[in-house]
Amino acid sequence: MDNLVNIKEETIGEIVTRDYRKAQVFKDFGIDFCCGGKKTITEVCESKGIDAAELNNALEKVTDEVDTIGNDYQKWDIGFLTDYIINTHHQYVKDNTQFIIELANKVAKVHGNQHPELVRVAQIFTQVAMELISHLNKEEKMLFPFIKELSVVQHNGGSVPESAFGKVSNPIRMMESEHEEAGEALQTIREITGNFTLPADACNSYTILYKKLDEYENDLHKHVHLENNILFPKSILVEQGLQMSKS
Ligand SMILES: [Fe+2]
Ligand SMILES: [Fe+2]
Repeated sequence: MDNLVNIKEETIGEIVTRDYRKAQVFKDFGIDFCCGGKKTITEVCESKGIDAAELNNALEKVTDEVDTIGNDYQKWDIGFLTDYIINTHHQYVKDNTQFIIELANKVAKVHGNQHPELVRVAQIFTQVAMELISHLNKEEKMLFPFIKELSVVQHNGGSVPESAFGKVSNPIRMMESEHEEAGEALQTIREITGNFTLPADACNSYTILYKKLDEYENDLHKHVHLENNILFPKSILVEQGLQMSKS
């Protein structure tokens, strides 16, 4: 019972940060655990009309399973986590975006008359993917190098790094709002395709497109979770700690 009370008080982001396996449960219930991660279970259940007891039961079941993967992101150094995000999730976006844009446009051209939602899918995906590439650029050129400097000073000493943007929370706020826009666009694609349900006349390209869109959204959820719920709050804390030790 104590456990249930604890789970209710935590935010969804905190729950997923403690145990990433629970992300799948939130996904199954249609709950956004990355951009909407600052809400509690009670708040989300109320706004979405979800039975909180049913959700808590599903979360409890995950607790009972053995975790063989190990979810230690929270313990990672912020500089290391930054590199991990670039090498894993930024690389995923760079490797897959062009392929999906071309595939989405091809499938829309061939099947768009019978399935007009495919034309919207191609348009929405092309736009969100372009915005995402520019978002990654801002992180890699501006925010992440600063976070890596924070990590170096945290371990080796020295003064708080200077930046053109003031406190680290300023670019973080901007990145979070861009995450929200990207998450909403991919959610729209999921909705207009009926959760990626293939029609009877779907060809191979159509099938691969839905598979890749689903995979792309999943990768983005994990990527945004690592930034919004772990990297960003930790970076703000490290900067605050360094500033306090200076004064
Ligand atoms: Fe990122
Ligand atoms: Fe990001």
